[in-house]
Amino acid sequence: MEEKILVAVAWPYSSSYVHVGNVGGVYLPADIFARYQRLRGNDVLMVSGSDSHGTPITVKADEEGISPRQVFERYHQSFLDDFTKLGLTYDLFTHTDTENHHRVAQDIFLTLLENGYLFQKTTQQLYCENCHKFLPDRYVYGTCPHCGSEDARGDQCEACGHPLDAIELIDPICKLCGHRPVIRETEHFFLDLPALNERLLEWVQDKTYWRPNVYNFTLNYLKEGLQERPITRDIEWGIPVPVEGTCPAPQVQGYEGKSIYVWFEAVIGYLSASIEWARITGEPEKWKEWWYEPGRSFYFIAKDNIPFHSIIWPAILMGTERLYAEEGSLNLPYDVPSNEFLNLEGRKISGSRNWAVWLPDYLERYDPDPLRYYLTANAPESRDTDFSWADFWRRNNDELVATWGNLANRVLSFAYKNFDKRVPAPGQLDEIDQALLDKVEAAFDPIGQLLDGCKFKAALGEAMALAHEANRYLNEKSPWFQIKEDREATGTTIFVALRVIDSLKTLFYPFLPFSSQELHHFLGYDGDIMGQQYIETLQEDHGAHQALRYDGSGLEGEWAPSQLPAGQVLRKPKPLFKKLDESIVEEELARLGVGA
Ligand code: MF3
Ligand code: ZN
Repeated sequence: MEEKILVAVAWPYSSSYVHVGNVGGVYLPADIFARYQRLRGNDVLMVSGSDSHGTPITVKADEEGISPRQVFERYHQSFLDDFTKLGLTYDLFTHTDTENHHRVAQDIFLTLLENGYLFQKTTQQLYCENCHKFLPDRYVYGTCPHCGSEDARGDQCEACGHPLDAIELIDPICKLCGHRPVIRETEHFFLDLPALNERLLEWVQDKTYWRPNVYNFTLNYLKEGLQERPITRDIEWGIPVPVEGTCPAPQVQGYEGKSIYVWFEAVIGYLSASIEWARITGEPEKWKEWWYEPGRSFYFIAKDNIPFHSIIWPAILMGTERLYAEEGSLNLPYDVPSNEFLNLEGRKISGSRNWAVWLPDYLERYDPDPLRYYLTANAPESRDTDFSWADFWRRNNDELVATWGNLANRVLSFAYKNFDKRVPAPGQLDEIDQALLDKVEAAFDPIGQLLDGCKFKAALGEAMALAHEANRYLNEKSPWFQIKEDREATGTTIFVALRVIDSLKTLFYPFLPFSSQELHHFLGYDGDIMGQQYIETLQEDHGAHQALRYDGSGLEGEWAPSQLPAGQVLRKPKPLFKKLDESIVEEELARLGVGA
C-alpha cells in the first residue's frame, strides 16, 4: 500500500558552502531514502531550503562588510546549483525569507501565544558597551556551563551539544571586539518548555527504534528537565515579532530591532515549505496529507541539531494543537535519523579553518556518483568516520570501477558486439544461471528493509556483494571462451547477466542515480527511472525567489527485479565510471595544505 512519507531535511545556513561532512551526514542519506521510497511507489514529500536568518548570516556579513541579504543570496544560489548537480531530489528546496515562510512562522508564533505557551519577560542579556549592541548567539563566546568546554558559542556548545543562551556562558567574550560584555535588561518572548516536558517525555519514551544516540540524548535531556527559552532576539535580520490578531503581522511595539529566534522559525520551515509546495503545484490543501493523515516523517539532520528536532520542534507542534483546529494535531516526527560526524583526514572538519572539502570544489573536479558512493560506503551512521582522499581514490577504483562499473561494461559491450546490439534470447537456464537470478531477485526485500530502516551503508554493501557475485558468475561462465563453442549457451549467459545488471541498476539507483540512469539508457530503455529536477523562479505577492524542484511525474522505475525482454535493442555502451589517477590524492592533500 502506498504510504505518505515526509522527508524533512535540515536547512543549511546560507552563510557558507556545504562540505562533504554536511552532504554525507544529512543531505545524501535523505535523498537516498526519498529515491528508494519513490521507487517503492510511496508518496514522498521531500522539503528543505536555505536557513536565511540569524547570527550565522549576520556575523558573516559583518566579516565581509556586505549585507546579510547579499550573503544569503550568494549561498542560496550555490545550494541550488550544487544540489542539482549532486542529484538531491527535493520536491521543494526553498528558503526562510519567503513571504510564505514569514506568514506561517508568525502564524505558529501567534497560535502558541494564544494557547498559552508563550509569555513575555524582562530578561538579562549580554550587551557590549564597546560595540553598543546586545550580543545574541554567535556574537559571543565563552565557557560552556554544562561541560566546561572553552569556546562554546552563545547558541550552542559544540562539544556537548547543549543549546545555550549566551547569558549562561562563563567568561563571555564579544566576538566583534574581544571585550567582556555586561548584563543589561531587555524584553523577550519565551517558550514555556517546562509546560510540555511531561508530554514530550511520554511521547519519546517508546521511540526505541530511534538510533541509540538520538534516543538517549533526547531522553536524558528531557529527564534533566526543560527550561523556558527565549524565542526572540535582539537582531534585525529575521522575522518580525508579530502582533496578535493580524497576519501577516507588523512588529509588536517595543520589539523594534528584535526578531523571532532563528531556531524557532527555521524548524517551522518543514511545515511552511510543505505548504508552499502545495500552493505551487496547484493543490493548496495537499500538504495536509503529510501533516495530518497517517504516515511517517523522517528528519535527516546533523548531530548538533538533535535537540532542536527531537525536543523543540515536537514541543512547537504540540503547542499548536488548535492551529487549523478542524484538522486535529500536526504529525510529530516519526524518526530523527541523525548521523555522527565525518572527519577529514583524521581531523574534525572546520569550515572556518577551511579544513573541509567544499561541495562546489568537488563537483568542479569529479562526478557526483563517486562522492555519493564513497560517502555512503563510509557513512558515520553509528560512529564518527573519516573522509580521506586516499580512501576515496581506492574505493572509486577498486569498488566502483573494478567491481560494479566493470561488470556492467563487460556485459553490455559483449552483448552489443556479439549479439547484434540486442538482448539475446536465452536457451535452457542451468542451475548456476537460475541460482544467480534467484539470489538477485531475493535481495530486493532485505535491501529494501535496510533502506527503509535508514541503514544505508549496509544496504549499499549488500548491493555491492551482488555485483561481486555476478562477476564471479561471469568469470565462471567465461562467455568470451564460451562463444567459440556454444553460441546458444553464451546467449543464455548474457541474457542472465543483462537481467542481473538491470536489477542491480535499480538496487544501486538510490545511491548512484546518474550512472544507473545511463545504464538504463544503454539497456535500451527510453525514459527516466525517476523524474526531473529543475530550478524555478517562484512568484509571491511582493517578490520572487528561486527554488529547486523535483517533478516525479516521469517516474518509470520500480523497486523490483528486471523484466528485461529478449530482443530489446541496446545502445552503444560507455564505461559508467572513470578510473582516477593516484596523483589526485597528492593534489587534493596539497589543496588542503598538507604536504605528501
Ligand atoms: N541551519 C541549521 C544548521 O545548519 C539547521 C537548521 S535545520 C532547521 O545547523 F530545521 F532548523 F531548519
Ligand atoms: Zn564588542
